[in-house]
Amino acid sequence: MDIVLGLQWGDEGKGKFIDLISENYDITARFNGGSNAGHSIERNGKRITLKMIPSGIFMKRVQNVIGTGTVLDPVSFKKEILNLQLFDETVQPENNIVISLKAHFVLPTHKLLDIFMEESSDYITIGTTKNGIAQAYSNKILRQNVRVGDMYTPDFENRVKHILARDYKMLAEGSLELPSLEDISNEFFEAVDFLKRFKCTETEIYLNNALAEGKAILAEGSQAAMLDIDHGTYPYVTSSSTTASGASSGLGVSPKKIGEIFGIAKAYCTRVGNGVFPTELFDELGEEIRTKGNEFGSNTGRPRRTGWLDLPALKYAVMINGVTQLVLTKADVLSGLKSVAVCTHYELEDGKMIATSGILPENGKPVLKWMSGWNADFSTMKSPSELPEELIEFLSFLEAELGIPVTYLSTGPGRNEMLKLIRK
Ligand code: IMP
Repeated sequence: MDIVLGLQWGDEGKGKFIDLISENYDITARFNGGSNAGHSIERNGKRITLKMIPSGIFMKRVQNVIGTGTVLDPVSFKKEILNLQLFDETVQPENNIVISLKAHFVLPTHKLLDIFMEESSDYITIGTTKNGIAQAYSNKILRQNVRVGDMYTPDFENRVKHILARDYKMLAEGSLELPSLEDISNEFFEAVDFLKRFKCTETEIYLNNALAEGKAILAEGSQAAMLDIDHGTYPYVTSSSTTASGASSGLGVSPKKIGEIFGIAKAYCTRVGNGVFPTELFDELGEEIRTKGNEFGSNTGRPRRTGWLDLPALKYAVMINGVTQLVLTKADVLSGLKSVAVCTHYELEDGKMIATSGILPENGKPVLKWMSGWNADFSTMKSPSELPEELIEFLSFLEAELGIPVTYLSTGPGRNEMLKLIRK
């Protein structure tokens, strides 16, 4: 099993890469998160953002698993499937999606509680996507939630209604305008009926059997290393395990079965939501990168914060994930700049330098290394031999610092705008 992971704060371009390489696999499998993902894929000049559906969905022979470590919102999933069928009527999701019986449900009140907590002064504001992700995961950990397999049990409706009514008591304490309980409950059960069209099974057994038959699996990470619940910039993180080990536990596939680990990173950094961002640019250049790179949340539309590449954080992400190949995206966005910077260290007040870190140490400041910028027309680029010298130097610098090869370079948003690099 190979894995694709984001190495920064999300939005590195995982969807496009997975869509591209999924032709080499029999199965793609989401192992974490829910409809908070925003994996953008271009097809025939049109763009779609997948939230819960795995990114191998456009490959007819690929099966797409929604694994045990995910949280599934049936209402959002139904909308996403209907939208997908409008986008491409040849896709047959009912034949190509397999859902874990053990995946947890996101309930309508989870989304309302997400908004409630974000808006209440009693709680830290995280800047979530408001998809109810933390609520679903916390109820899972509290062992108070319902799972996909529960929808086949006779007391399912009562259990859900009980949770919704209980949550409404808490919600009533806030000032949020609430929809009628009956409306959200009906919408939820209708969506659950829709979900029953899909194959729901023990995906751990399904995946391990597939591996035993020699099939190739690609595990698809959503969010990214620096948003990981354990290793990310807590508390400004998502609520799931976004790492390579999360793929193993989220899918029920042994770490011994893991092969390549593709880490995706942008040539600069972005972040949506709150939290530490050492290399953030607050000037016109930051704005220019945001506009040129179309750095607006694909899920929420929020403007993304932009900044220089953060090497201490990237080294940390490569280390905790055991990344074997780096996929670099959006170097084309920086094209035309006279010089580009990379943060190589964090410098502490006593002059001590930190080269690898998952957090900006207190009182630390980023140390920037300036390199010559590059200028090229990436839209017409067909071969690595056309890459400007300065960008090759940038790639070599990253390889030397990270100790892994850069094997793919994305040159634009289009599906085919990706160069496979053969580098020593
Ligand atoms: P949640 O996952 O909706 O609870 O949001 C928690 C944090 O993760 C917020 O800062 C979100 O902006 C961020 N986040 C969640 N999903 C993504 C994503 O797919 N890309 C980028 N950031 C994300």
